[in-house]
This record gives sequence, structure tokens and C-alpha cells, in this order.
Amino acid sequence: MPKLVIIYGTGSHNTERMALAIEEGARAEGLDTVLKNVNEADKNELKDADGVAVGSPNYNHAMMPTVKKFLKDLADIELSGKVGLAFGSYGWSLEATDDIHKILTSHGMEMVQDLLIKRMPGDEELELCRRVGSLLACKIKK
Ligand SMILES: Cc1cc2nc3c(=O)[nH]c(=O)nc-3n(C[C@H](O)[C@H](O)[C@H](O)COP(=O)(O)O)c2cc1C
Repeated sequence: MPKLVIIYGTGSHNTERMALAIEEGARAEGLDTVLKNVNEADKNELKDADGVAVGSPNYNHAMMPTVKKFLKDLADIELSGKVGLAFGSYGWSLEATDDIHKILTSHGMEMVQDLLIKRMPGDEELELCRRVGSLLACKIKK
């Protein structure tokens, strides 16, 4: 079964809500998933993943420092060819997801379009997150 690893940082749970919905969508397409808050994440879990989604909210015009450190530590993990998604909740600017996208692209990952939700995701936004999780899964299965 193809495997999707979802790693996220969150301050007030909005990006976490997104991550849970992305996982639901991917599981509905039959993927194995690993969902971890970045504080509990192990980069070695990415080694045998077919897809990797990394999320961070935007704080002070940047991604969370914990997510930044996790991404920096990925230098020795082979990510080339894996399918990637950058996602996160924001208030008024998009630096976090833009930077996650750039970093994962620089590792040779094949990125789908970033998933951005303003503030707390409601029912419609969570449905969008599920749909993106399913689309990501379909791309991974191809
Ligand atoms: C101290 C603070 C700084 C913030 N800075 C930004 C920012 O620079 N750009 C932005 O778009 N949103 C900013 N926000 C809004 C958060 O990105 C938004 O509340 C988001 O939903 C938080 O996601 P989370 O619940 O996953 O932590 C800030 C919020 C706080 C409390």
C-alpha cells in the first residue's frame, strides 16, 4: 500500500484540523498514512513514504521554527520523486507555505498545489482538505 506521511506544526490547532482532514481524504483512497505533530515526528519515517505533506501556520511572516528545523534536518533523506504538499492556516500572508513548497521542491519532490485556509477551517474548508488529501493519494497511486 502506498504511504503518505503528514507532518504539521500548529499553535491553535487550525493547521492540525487541516492535517486530520487531509489524512481522512488519503485514507479514503486506500493509502497508509502517518500523521505526526512535528514535535513528535521522526524524519526516518519519510524514507519509505511515497508522498509527504508538510504543514505550518504563518506566524510573524514565517513558518513555525519547529517546522523549519524539521525541514532543515531532511538534508540526508532522499526525497526526490516523492509527491509533496505544502499546507497551512494563515491570517493575512503566505510565507510559511511558500517556503515549505520551495524547500520540498529543492529536494526534487513533485509538488501539488499548496493548500491554504484562512484561520479556522469550517465544514466547507475541511471538505476541501479531504478532497485535496484524496487527490494527493490518487497522484501517489499513479
Ligand atoms: C502572534 C501571531 C502572529 C501571526 N502572524 C501572522 C503572519 O505573519 N501572517 C499571517 O498570515 N498570519 C499570522 N497570524 C495568524 C495565524 O497564522 C492564524 O491564526 C492561523 O490560523 C494559526 O494557525 P494554527 O491554529 O495552526 O496555529 C499570526 C497569529 C498570531 C497569534
